[in-house]
Amino acid sequence: KVVAVIMVGGPTKGTRFRPLSFNIPKPLFPLAGQPMVHHPISACKRIPNLAYIYLIGFYEEREFALYVSSISNELKVPVRYVKEDKPHGSAGGLYNFRDLIMEDSPSHIFLLNCDVCCSFPLPEMLEAHKSYGGMGTILVIKVSAESANQFGELVADPTTHELLHYTEKPETFVSDLINCGVYIFTPDIFTAIQGVSTQRKDRANLRRLSSFEALQSPATRSLPSNFVRLDQDILSPLAGKKQLFTYETREFWEQIKTPGMSLKCSALYLAQFRFTSPDLLASGDGVRSANIVGDVYVHPSAKIHPTAKIGPNVSISANARIGAGARLISCIILDDVEIKENAVVLHAIIGWKSSIGKWSRVQASEAVSVEDEVVVINSIVLPNKTLNVSVQEEIIL
Ligand code: GDD
Repeated sequence: KVVAVIMVGGPTKGTRFRPLSFNIPKPLFPLAGQPMVHHPISACKRIPNLAYIYLIGFYEEREFALYVSSISNELKVPVRYVKEDKPHGSAGGLYNFRDLIMEDSPSHIFLLNCDVCCSFPLPEMLEAHKSYGGMGTILVIKVSAESANQFGELVADPTTHELLHYTEKPETFVSDLINCGVYIFTPDIFTAIQGVSTQRKDRANLRRLSSFEALQSPATRSLPSNFVRLDQDILSPLAGKKQLFTYETREFWEQIKTPGMSLKCSALYLAQFRFTSPDLLASGDGVRSANIVGDVYVHPSAKIHPTAKIGPNVSISANARIGAGARLISCIILDDVEIKENAVVLHAIIGWKSSIGKWSRVQASEAVSVEDEVVVINSIVLPNKTLNVSVQEEIIL
């Protein structure tokens, strides 16, 4: 059997995602009309013998309750959210729930970061992992040398695919091959994590006895023994020990840390729906009869006027109303938004319950109200503002 674990973090993480994470937890923010975490979860459907999907985070349980119950029914695989009392790091969080995870006696455990956007080639990783042997396999991708330092950089053996060297977000360039935040492990991972915390405890005790601070590096000195980071504390020390291997993806991969990335990732997932869930894409000749261009998602409860023109890369959430002659291009329209007649929305995320007036234009902007005939271009507008005059290149606080 196989179990999948998705690390969803918590409210203190993901502050860069503000203001979109003010209203809902970042993992539930819609991309291509589905909560961010839905994409890795639905990719898990393709894993053979999947027994359970756990989401581990430190958000309140109630925030995930509705979503996990509906997705469990839909997938016919139990999905459960479990809450950490406080952050224990990406490996510490996993270790916390080891008994629960091991209940189904899985032979393999997938571990996925929720804030990455990719095709999640999970069955392919499982096959590769079985052929390599070892304790774990990491999904990796080649990125530009300039962007690599935002990620874990690594060196792999080109023939055996063994992980030879790993450095988390290095200051000087190591490699353009990076960690995608998608892993498969055998249950031995728990022994490895336990090893790190035992070592920390021993050192802390020793330090107390001898006050010999130099035994620990400054980076780990202040960390509690049950706080274990997967990258620095597990992957780095295990590199080159024939325990960890890599599987390189040649498909799309992005990290979702900022609101701007959600538009790009929404487009990537919409494009992927053509192959994975064509039924989720609106087609021009459907019941809605609006003018649809390219990849578009429309929630069944949204109302769209037949003369509106929508797409490419547009996703429209529940109860949105799109008026006659409106034009939407590359945007995310959140729940309960109203776009009035002949308004234009371009490269923007329109926040929950916003109202965009007739003949107005919103380009690259959030949760605000734009009055009739107002034009907003390249501006940053904080939530809950009403714009009654046109603005360009301004920050409205
Ligand atoms: N439950 C829980 N508890 N989740 C956590 C915790 C924790 O204490 N800490 C982090 N996470 C979750 C985050 O929500 C995210 O999904 C994932 O674990 C990794 O977060 P970070 O540890 O903050 O790392 P990062 O996102 O900056 O970088 C990691 O991912 C990159 C790929 O996106 C690293 O592994 C990089 O090497 C990698 O390139």
